[in-house]
Amino acid sequence: MLSRRSLLRLSVGAAALPAFSFDETVPVAKKTGMIVRAARPEDLEMPLEFFSDYLTPAEHFFVRTHTYVPRVSPGEYKLEVAGEVSKPLALSMTDIRKLPRVELVSVLECAGNGRSLYAPPMPGLQWSYGAVGNAKWAGVRLGDVLKQAGVKPAGREVLFDGLDVGPGTMPDFQRTIPVKKALDPNTLLAYEMNGRTLPLQHGFPLRVIAPGWASDSWVKWLAKITVLDHDFDGFFMKTAYRHPGKPVRPGEAVPPEKMSPVTSLRVKSVISTPADGATVAPGGVVKVAGAAWSGDGGPVESVEVSADGGRTWRAAAMISPRTPFGWRLWSFDWRPAREQFHTLMARAKTAAGDIQPFAQEWNPSGYQWNVVHKVGVNVSSQPAPAAQPAGPVDVSGQPAGYRSSCLVCHGDDVVTQQRLTRGQWEKEVDKMGRWGARVKPEDREALLDYLMRISRGR
Ligand code: HEC
Repeated sequence: MLSRRSLLRLSVGAAALPAFSFDETVPVAKKTGMIVRAARPEDLEMPLEFFSDYLTPAEHFFVRTHTYVPRVSPGEYKLEVAGEVSKPLALSMTDIRKLPRVELVSVLECAGNGRSLYAPPMPGLQWSYGAVGNAKWAGVRLGDVLKQAGVKPAGREVLFDGLDVGPGTMPDFQRTIPVKKALDPNTLLAYEMNGRTLPLQHGFPLRVIAPGWASDSWVKWLAKITVLDHDFDGFFMKTAYRHPGKPVRPGEAVPPEKMSPVTSLRVKSVISTPADGATVAPGGVVKVAGAAWSGDGGPVESVEVSADGGRTWRAAAMISPRTPFGWRLWSFDWRPAREQFHTLMARAKTAAGDIQPFAQEWNPSGYQWNVVHKVGVNVSSQPAPAAQPAGPVDVSGQPAGYRSSCLVCHGDDVVTQQRLTRGQWEKEVDKMGRWGARVKPEDREALLDYLMRISRGR
């Protein structure tokens, strides 16, 4: 029998890889109104207007897919628990459902949410605000599963591996969390999202819920848990998803060993309405509203709004209750009197006093953006001029080898959204080469010229 990886390997170079393959019994969320950052693998962002829901419906919940959505056969599914445990387990969903059911509302945010707002830019999906959502997750405590298996005293880290496998020689998406976080009663293995079976795009049949932490720890399609007695050295722990732990000079290269894994989310708020660039009439009430959340350092206590570029601040009404990990909707009635341009801002603060910064704290991979959100609003009795939508990127004139070396695993969209220098593109082409892209040396210069032209390179 061919392994999943060899199947994918065979398809690389043949034609397109399987985008979506699943059983009819597997629930798939229908997505509407999303910003498509990448069609294949699927990376979808939630537009700002949908921050108005307390629980983000699956229809609008962002999707981040590193590789491909795996084929899941519910009948054959087993969760393996191995490593530093006294009793290795292989649990079916029926076995898992026998454990006590727990519900928890928690924000799920991609570590790279806001990457497009960083300057200077870095490679990666160019998310703006919407790689985040808030849902009610239900499942079992990871701690209850680990108790059944009996974690040995040597256990340090808990490694999660999903059913997904990368194409070519791309490293497998595997992540660890410390045993302490794994045993936290809020760390779950979820089989439901907002009262329904967890949809395939969100990790059916089982995903990790690591509340307060960025979503790289929330492994989807969970198939294997291994308790390790050492630090795991896979690519997605030792090279990717690392942060210097302090702001560094913008553009500075920091070696991965000088950084540590991204964990907690940061205090943050987003203005969902009015939209940036909106025109409103003077004399009325304008509802300024949005959502605010934080990480594992305690929930958001308050949000303040400024309509004068940060000179004066007024408290917003907190609409939804304080829960340990859910976001809070907030609202502010703004009464603009004069015809002028306003810069609205919203700033969240936790009970512990942690507050959003005004200046970006740069880090090499563009993680954890949480700068105060600014929205420009024109107060005028004149209607706004019609906005000019940005035209599609001209991807014509492909050089030799672009299609066969770069468009096998993903489309143009992954490439055109980047804002890279030529030097950064060279590194990106080398990285893709390590993952299986075959670029002939004689085609390299023309390929780099083309990548600069079709992307938003500088
Ligand atoms: C073997 C499959 C494969 C080939 C061939 C390939 N890529 Fe990729 N590439 C990927 C995958 C998978 C991702 C998504 C990684 C993720 O989301 O973590 C990706 C992501 C990217 C990104 C986003 C930034 C990043 O590093 O995640 C860029 C830019 C990119 N590829 C450019 C290219 C270019 C240019 C080529 C041709 C030289 C190429 N790719 C060839 C698999 C491939």
